[in-house]
Amino acid sequence: MTLFDKCRHYTAAREAQAAGVYPYFVPIEQSTSTEVLVDGHWKVMVGSNNYLGLTHHPKVLDAARKALTKYGSGSTGSRLLNGTLDLHYELEERLARFLKKPAALVFSTGYQSNLGAIAALVGRDDHVFLDKLDHASIIDGAKMAFGEVHRYAHGDFEMLDRKLCTTPAGSGKLVVTDGVFSMEGSVVDLPGLVPVVKKNKAHLMVDDAHALGVLGADGSGTAHHFGLEDQVDLIMVTFSKSLASIGGAVAGPEDVIHYMRHHSRALIFSASMPPSSVAGVLAALDILQHEPERRERLWANTRRMAEGLKALGFDTGKSVTPIIPVVVGDMQTALVMWRGLFDEGVFAHPIVPPAVPPDSCRIRISMTAEHSDEQVDRVIDAFERVARKGMRPRELAGRAVARRG
Ligand SMILES: Cc1ncc(COP(=O)(O)O)c(C=O)c1O
Repeated sequence: MTLFDKCRHYTAAREAQAAGVYPYFVPIEQSTSTEVLVDGHWKVMVGSNNYLGLTHHPKVLDAARKALTKYGSGSTGSRLLNGTLDLHYELEERLARFLKKPAALVFSTGYQSNLGAIAALVGRDDHVFLDKLDHASIIDGAKMAFGEVHRYAHGDFEMLDRKLCTTPAGSGKLVVTDGVFSMEGSVVDLPGLVPVVKKNKAHLMVDDAHALGVLGADGSGTAHHFGLEDQVDLIMVTFSKSLASIGGAVAGPEDVIHYMRHHSRALIFSASMPPSSVAGVLAALDILQHEPERRERLWANTRRMAEGLKALGFDTGKSVTPIIPVVVGDMQTALVMWRGLFDEGVFAHPIVPPAVPPDSCRIRISMTAEHSDEQVDRVIDAFERVARKGMRPRELAGRAVARRG
């Protein structure tokens, strides 16, 4: 066996391409905040995380353009060296205030924020505890850390408690959970989790990638949603979703953030967020804070979509957020369903193993504040048509397999 043999034997993606059900790396030719042009056809985008619909907001674009002119196209260096702008500090101060924490640290992506925070904090004799459904970046951060990694069944805080109890007294313990679970659209039971963390003298980090701008009366996320800001030690956020850009941050106690600033390899050994992105995020944060009606519109769209799909008999699982999974069954069924919707002018995502168990593959929809009622209804109608045309997922799956054969 040579190193490359596994590449020659990897056929799954090519088989899906041949069957016309390959859903990845679709090139987008143009976009608005709610639609994308693919192969000359406009499709309603319900696969983005553009929750507040700010990617094309004139204030965000204007701020990005001004920063481009003032600072150039890239930072060309790590935060530690030449890659820190006054804008990075401004964003850190603004985020810390908004998330009600003493300090914050900005990374180049959300992924790196989790890597950087967890790997820096969880040292050789420490322990990190992860929910089974935590995001891959949390798992990768834990793998990079020198400490021991423990995983508990999704939402099973009794199992977590047992695992915490058996770690040596005096060792450092970090529990990391998603605020909103990205494959389910469900919210962590923070009131159930916090007492277990406190009882075991552990620290708690919440990944609020999908909660920022979405949960809490002011959009500041899961801790605020439950009134538990004081009980969450570290809040991680991304800028690639509600804040319509790229980048991420971790907010927490001043000395912890200071330590991360000097020990996070994902921060120190990677170039910083480009100026236009930082300026765009600052503008988006302004809008998030001053236009609460966007959040209201997001939730109205979410209700309209979820109710419409449920009325058609679709299973939307445990979703209580703008992430709406439509559980359809096995992988082939999900891929064929995705293709039916795509042909109907809907850009959604099939979610398949290893992201979800093999028998609960799904089409995942994410809503934005900018979707119109007409667009929401168009998506619901597309789901209905895929079903009504006799293109029930399992039959479609049969066709695709036949075509492949
Ligand atoms: C829960 C969660 N955490 C972290 C990330 C990583 O964020 P980014 O894509 O901004 O790097 C994502 C991205 O999908 C996510 O869903």
